[in-house]
Amino acid sequence: MCPPEHFDVRYAINPWMSGDTPVDTARAARQWEALAAAYRAHGHTVDTVAPEPDLPDMVFAANAALCLHGKVFGSSFHAPERRPESAAYEKWFAADGHPVRRPESSCEGEGDLVPVGGLILAGTGFRTSRAAHAEIQEFFGVPTVALQLTDPYFYHLDTALFALDDENVAYLPEAFSAGSRQVLERLFPRAVRATRDDAMAFGLNSVSDGRHVFVAPQATGLIDRLAQEGYVPVPVDLSEFHKAGGGIKCCTQEIR
Ligand code: ARG
Repeated sequence: MCPPEHFDVRYAINPWMSGDTPVDTARAARQWEALAAAYRAHGHTVDTVAPEPDLPDMVFAANAALCLHGKVFGSSFHAPERRPESAAYEKWFAADGHPVRRPESSCEGEGDLVPVGGLILAGTGFRTSRAAHAEIQEFFGVPTVALQLTDPYFYHLDTALFALDDENVAYLPEAFSAGSRQVLERLFPRAVRATRDDAMAFGLNSVSDGRHVFVAPQATGLIDRLAQEGYVPVPVDLSEFHKAGGGIKCCTQEIR
């Protein structure tokens, strides 16, 4: 995770960022600390990456890479404003002993890449290119399934879908093209289908350890569904980050 020391909304690269409510930085810091504390309280280790000035979106660590089987595929950001983040995160990975492969085409890490079981689900349409999907499959040797995103509010795959465990996902069907919806139905017939309200509350920008689901408290319908399915919802409010189009998952890079 990257502390929100320099977090702010200073440009608009997704529809959430055009709002005129300024970020409450003190509140953002408290919310971010509460997320880190929730992870630690549930047995997860949290490492931090040094935040850099003038990179107000660097707090969204998920976008920096996909780390799988100990290999790291980095990011090439679509927006010029975010491009310097790649090198900042590469330094952290290198210090941790992991060289980072920089994608040749536009690719935003776990923002658009969701490993589930033996697959990588890969979003495209707004940020990550189809060409990057091919690079990813070649780099990891893991079947990579392209999913076409269609709604600008759900510009990253991780705003419209998350992995519950190795076998199942939760997602918003209408965020995807008709063909991609069919792909998801075939792959995950028992999936938890969310409502648009829950997705607009960043309910699908969640992190699951297979049992606990760290989820936005505003996603009340989804929280009930998850509990019915036997998961343990752990609500954590990141509402200040919603102003930039991010939530729990966006603030979390999972080191696999
Ligand atoms: N403002 C950031 C952007 O538009 C938010 C990124 C959110 N991260 C995510 N994993 N969805 O790029």
